[in-house]
Amino acid sequence: MKQLKVGLLGIGTVGGGTYTVLTRNAAEITRRTGVAINVVQVADKNIDHAKVLTGGEVDVTNDAFAVVNNPNVDVVVELIGGYTLSKDLVLKAIANGKHVVTANKALLALHGNEIFSAAQKAGVIVAFEAAVAGGIPIIKALREGLGANKIEWVAGIINGTTNFILTEMREKGLTYQDVIGEAQRLGYAEADPTFDVEGIDAAHKLTILSAIAFGIPMKFEQAYTEGITKLAQADIQYAEELGYRIKLLGITKRTDKGVELRVHPTLIPEKRLVANVNGAMNAVVVKGDAVGPTLYYGAGAGAEPTASAVVADLMDVARLANASVEQRVPYLAFQPNSVIDLPILPISEVESAYYLRLRASDKPGVLAGVTKILADRNISIDALLQKEPDDNETEADIVILTHVTIEKNMDAAIASIEALPATVGKITRIRMEELGK
Ligand code: HSE
Repeated sequence: MKQLKVGLLGIGTVGGGTYTVLTRNAAEITRRTGVAINVVQVADKNIDHAKVLTGGEVDVTNDAFAVVNNPNVDVVVELIGGYTLSKDLVLKAIANGKHVVTANKALLALHGNEIFSAAQKAGVIVAFEAAVAGGIPIIKALREGLGANKIEWVAGIINGTTNFILTEMREKGLTYQDVIGEAQRLGYAEADPTFDVEGIDAAHKLTILSAIAFGIPMKFEQAYTEGITKLAQADIQYAEELGYRIKLLGITKRTDKGVELRVHPTLIPEKRLVANVNGAMNAVVVKGDAVGPTLYYGAGAGAEPTASAVVADLMDVARLANASVEQRVPYLAFQPNSVIDLPILPISEVESAYYLRLRASDKPGVLAGVTKILADRNISIDALLQKEPDDNETEADIVILTHVTIEKNMDAAIASIEALPATVGKITRIRMEELGK
């Protein structure tokens, strides 16, 4: 029986899940691959815990470099996260001629171009299914299953922590502050939870999706990122009254002007399946020119769901380790010499529909002043809601949904509306997506 010898870097949540799934399903995995996939060495800071988890069956060390330098290891599974030590370890493993499986979205979003280039030169596989949307096989779907298509856009709920928070806010009428602590306790959050709530984790994952959807380099530093920390309960309620849900979406689109790469709270019609993805679940919609919109749903985090993706990558390595480079799927789905450095559009050039909420004096002519500013800028109104002021209040909330316009045009309109004497404070602006075609 052929054997694939695995060195595991990190046996925490995902590493532990990977070890469990590989052990529990060993017979089934070998039936599929014809290869016995065995963990031969584990590196973890907590040696005692690692020894307990592996039942004394595996060599355990606290020196991760001992694993990447171990001549008995064929493939290194990097599950320690971060992008400093993990980068050195992955590049060293590649230099040593080892294949790499990683769940590290931050590492790939920031240093993927360098890592894939090194891997190509060394002729080794770098597999990363677990880096995006946990157990959902979205990398496989995009790189292989949808390979016949020209991908037009990808939009996804790719951070479970924020989806959990938004779901609690909507279902229980709670504020962001009410829910954030509970989300952290449930253990989906990144080591630094600002990565979740400010949209950075989603932007890491979106960067990877965009690269493999369009065959472009990783461009994380050009992604537009806006989180959920400023979302008010009122916006969730007004959106609901108008037939929409608010989700933190990662959106990447190919346009004539360049590629959109943006993470922000987004109104989606409630009739869309993706608008009904709740709790910590993830979902990704991919629009291909031939297939139309397709939806992928499942657990985006957690020990065994993420392990499911890690182990599937190990199975690919088991099948393809001895194949020629031409027989493998290219890292970014496109042949390395066909990766094109398309421009990423700044957010000011993105086209979107908008939800606007403003507070204004409840006096004759105020609404006419607002709608005139929009009309002067050729921004068409799709729906409008004016709320009765509460007793003793002289100001009312006005909610406007617009048709699509370019963001810089909307920026200018918002500045003019905010300058009206009747307008109180800042306007809340949330982008909207139909996600229908
Ligand atoms: N913090 C991430 C999330 C974990 O909440 O989705 C999986 O990447």
